[in-house]
Amino acid sequence: MRIPLDDGVYSDYGPVRVSDEPYIIFGSPIIDRAAIDAVTRTLETSWIGTGPRVQELETAFAAYTGAKYALATSSCTAALHLAMVTSGVGPGDEVITTPMTFCATANAIIHAGATPVFVDCGLDDMNIDASAIEAAITPRTKAILPVHFAGRPCDMDVIGALASRHGLLVIEDAAHATESVFRGRKVGAISNLTCFSFYVTKNMTTAEGGMVTTNDAELAQRIKIFGLHGLSADAWNRFSDKGYKHYDVVFPGFKYNLTDLAASIGLAQLPNLEAWLVRRELIWSRYDAAFQDLPVRLPAAALPETRHARHLYTLLLDDAAPIRRDEFLSAMHQRGIGTGVHYRALHTHPYYRERWGFRPEQFPNAYWIGEHTVSLPLSPKLGDGDVDRIIREVRSILGG
Ligand SMILES: Cc1ncc(COP(=O)(O)O)c(C=O)c1O
Repeated sequence: MRIPLDDGVYSDYGPVRVSDEPYIIFGSPIIDRAAIDAVTRTLETSWIGTGPRVQELETAFAAYTGAKYALATSSCTAALHLAMVTSGVGPGDEVITTPMTFCATANAIIHAGATPVFVDCGLDDMNIDASAIEAAITPRTKAILPVHFAGRPCDMDVIGALASRHGLLVIEDAAHATESVFRGRKVGAISNLTCFSFYVTKNMTTAEGGMVTTNDAELAQRIKIFGLHGLSADAWNRFSDKGYKHYDVVFPGFKYNLTDLAASIGLAQLPNLEAWLVRRELIWSRYDAAFQDLPVRLPAAALPETRHARHLYTLLLDDAAPIRRDEFLSAMHQRGIGTGVHYRALHTHPYYRERWGFRPEQFPNAYWIGEHTVSLPLSPKLGDGDVDRIIREVRSILGG
């Protein structure tokens, strides 16, 4: 694609690069020798679809989160959709969530036939304002869907108490929060259902993949069935060496299963999660120290008694900054550094504006953040030299 720049120069992929140094890709995952060997071994077994490796990953992930059941899915989007339909969210229901999230969160509510109801996020913590949820509850409210933004856990005490008082389900979007802990309780073992993402840029990846955790045996069983065509038996048992087995279709289900190939990557990633979090914590504190004096807002400090999963390091470029956010994105790209925007508020996107009638100023914090936020690379793959370079360029662009 040829993109015209202001000064008439054309670039193939965006603004012309001014740096010869290797491009730092935003959210680049660590794929180590163990992951490559694990995938190769799986390929050699010829069982590459859903099978024993997926079961192994489910068992290991349940142990990691402390949840009784973990059910692997093809993505977090699939996990969220399954969580909705298996727990009975459907047409006529409302689900309360945040506009400061990826579209998959609210799209899943809509896919289930329900109505998304947004409650604004905090300006500092960027999580749903738990103290404002109660005012949004109506007789049609069925569930609260908090998103642990950037890996910072939402106030699950307040949300849990509200849900009990009003008889609501809690379905967590923990796409950023694989390692998060809220007051001694691991995210994944707190609510009715929790959905994780193993997308490429996430703290743990299977290339594409996800997981639903729950402590409810019946829900776990339904997720398994609904996630694989609505078949009564595991498809991978159908063709196993135990001989052919008939199956019954008990629901018009979905094709949301993870493959053994993908699960092999996940099994090699899981043992590294804690060490990678330590590395991201270190990069985070280096950024905090280096950007202290810049005219930008730094991410809020982690709350006591919680563990922040450090998925995204966000800067807010307000009026005090020498350039606007989008100019900053281009300037970083020109210097060979990938950045992200998490997120332009969901309610400001055309579909949500036009179909649901949302106006930007209805959720002013999410709107403001969406116009001013930028995420810097935070992958544990970054070497000290990469971090030095990112700090140097950010400071030079922002006049430090
Ligand atoms: C908050 C949030 N929810 C849901 C998703 C969807 O995850 P997946 O890509 O695994 O479907 C993402 C992915 O970016 C996300 O960031």
